[in-house]
Formats: sequence, structure tokens, C-alpha cells
Amino acid sequence: MSKLALKNIRKNYGPVAVVDDLSLDLHQGELVTLLGPSGCGKTTTLRMIAGFIELTAGTIEVDGQPISSAQRTVAPEHRGMSMIFQSYAIWPNMTVAENVGFGLNVRRTPAKEAQQRVHEMLELVHLAPLAQRYPAELSGGQQQRVALARAMVVRPEVLLLDEPLSNLDANLREEMAQEIRRLHDEFKFTTVYVTHDQSEAMTISDRIAVLNLGRLEQVDTPWKLYNQPRTPFVAGFIGQTNLVGGSVRAGRITLNGLNGELAAQPGMPQELASARLSIRPQSLYLGPAVAGAVAMGWVSVVSRTYLGEHWNYLVRPRSGGELLKVHAPPSCLLEVGQECALAIDPGGVAVLG
Ligand SMILES: Nc1ncnc2c1ncn2[C@@H]1O[C@H](COP(=O)(O)OP(=O)(O)OP(=O)(O)O)[C@@H](O)[C@H]1O
Ligand SMILES: [Mg+2]
Repeated sequence: MSKLALKNIRKNYGPVAVVDDLSLDLHQGELVTLLGPSGCGKTTTLRMIAGFIELTAGTIEVDGQPISSAQRTVAPEHRGMSMIFQSYAIWPNMTVAENVGFGLNVRRTPAKEAQQRVHEMLELVHLAPLAQRYPAELSGGQQQRVALARAMVVRPEVLLLDEPLSNLDANLREEMAQEIRRLHDEFKFTTVYVTHDQSEAMTISDRIAVLNLGRLEQVDTPWKLYNQPRTPFVAGFIGQTNLVGGSVRAGRITLNGLNGELAAQPGMPQELASARLSIRPQSLYLGPAVAGAVAMGWVSVVSRTYLGEHWNYLVRPRSGGELLKVHAPPSCLLEVGQECALAIDPGGVAVLG
């Protein structure tokens, strides 16, 4: 049975559905991320799970028991959930240790045990030396870690995190993302994590649910989302890609403007007269043939940018068709206007339907 089940949930503000017919199941101990651009309905969904927003339609269940529907909403404090809000408010008049221990006091945990658990949690989030400071004496990132510790110390049945790392700089964000994953592996809270940052989502998640305009586009493991995106939105949102028109016949893919044929991977549509295809820029090769890649004809270089770790080339197929982005190694030197052979690694191609 699912630990947490969202069944066709919808939220309308006036006539507009900001979350629309969304269904999602989490197993016990699973960490699923809601990923999508600003305004796509992530916070609204999380607040519906927490019980702060009533549903317009659908049901939310924990352990098979309904806790939210259009008719009835169990109060947030009776859900066994912890939530970190996007603004991660922590109490300014309490020290770090008092902030983290607050939920344990409310639950009447014996003082000695509470103290022990607060201390362990502060160690885990590297805040033990700052236990007696007040929030005003902390950086944004440290405050966020206090919020994280406070949410986890009560060992919630379901942990809800709304962009908990948004205030951190890139390096610390990556470190904390790995830290959250490590804490998750240790405690195995069933967790819904919200972010608009795809690399953070890939680092942390068992599965990622990609939301666009209030609707679920695809729910899959990070690997599957990247390698087998099912919609143009997912292909473009998770990493960079080329969206190209073409067709699939008897498992063979042809691309508009190019003349080679690629094999469709198992599990992809094998027959589609008119298809959209996603081709990753690092799966395109310019110049001499590469083992495993399929020759696709000739292209000319339209523009190039050197980024240190790789070149970004924009190339145009000789017979017309869409421009293609290519990531090439630093040693691949081509001038604008130069013609060269193009090859594609079939592993970087997804049929979107
Ligand atoms: N109380 C409200 N009344 C009307 N519209 C609302 C209300 N709350 C949110 N919305 C709208 O619902 C949509 C989804 O908002 P939500 O906060 O869920 O987005 P989000 O995905 O969390 O975005 P962000 O990444 O910017 O935090 C937005 O278009 C927002 O303007
Ligand atoms: Mg939000």
C-alpha cells in the first residue's frame, strides 16, 4: 500500500486550476521531488498535502486513510507531518537549540531524550557549535539548516520540504543536497521535496515528478527522466536538448534534414509517422566517426562558444532542417562556416511521440 497517495487532486482559484488532476503515489520511505518552473503549482500541492489548503476535487490518503477531500480536511497538526515552508520561518526569539527542540517539547518528549536528539540533529547539520545563537546571528544558509533540523528531529511520518536550499550559494546547495540525501538514507522519512532546480532534484530524489502549468508531465527516476523523457517539456527542462521532427518506422528513426537511420531503443514507440525526438547535445559528434555513433550526413557550423570544459556549437544540416546544439570536447576545433560530418549516438535519442 502507498504511504501517501494523491488521487486526481485539483485546486481552483476562481475558474483557474493551478493544480489539475494530479495523481501521485509514494511508498513508505520514498523521496519524491516535485520539479517545475515558477508558478507551476509546487507549493500549492505541498500545502494541500500538509492540510493548509483545501482541495477543489480529488483525495489525499495516508496509509489508505483519506485526510483531504473537497468535503473534509484533517487539520495540519493531526497529520504527523513536518513541513519547511518556502520562507522557512524560524523563531527569532529562540536560540538554534530551542528552535530545533520546539517540536519535541510540544510532543512532551522527556527533557533528557529531547536534549540528546537535538544535539544529535545539530551535529548532523553541522550546527552544534552555534546551538546557543539566535537566528539574527546566522547566515541564510545556517537558518535553512535550522529549519531542516527542526523538521526532522520530530521524526515525522511524512516530511514536506519547499525549496529548503533556495537561499544557499551553489556550492553549499550541492553539499546540503547530498546531506539531505544522506539523512534520508539514514532516517527513511517518506518525503515530498519541492525545487525548481533540476540538478538538486537529480541529486536528492528516488523519483522526480515534473510539473508544468499545474499538470504532471512525467514521474520517473532521475535516470529515466533524463534518458527517456516522454514529452518535449520534460526533455527540455531536464538538461539541454535538441527537439527535432522525424518519424519511426519498424523501429528505425529518421530525422528531418538528416540522412542516417537510428535504432529506436526498447520501450520507445516503434511506429510513428510524425514524431518529435529529443537528442542530447553531447550525443552529437562533429568530424571523424566515433565508435557506436551513426553517420547522419553533413552540417555547417553557424556559431560556436567556448566554455572551457566543452564547445557549444550550433550547426545547420546541409539539406536544411532545424539548427542543432552540439557539445564537443575542447580539442574539436571548427570555424564558423566550416562543413563537417555529423554522427549521433542512438543512446542520446528519445522518441517523444
Ligand atoms: N491564494 C491564491 N490565489 C490565487 N492564485 C494563487 C494563490 N496562490 C497561488 N496562486 C497561483 O497559483 C499558481 C501556483 O502557485 P505556487 O505557489 O503553487 O507555484 P510554485 O510552483 O510553488 O512556484 P515558485 O517556484 O515560484 O515557488 C501561481 O500562478 C500562483 O500565482
Ligand atoms: Mg513555491
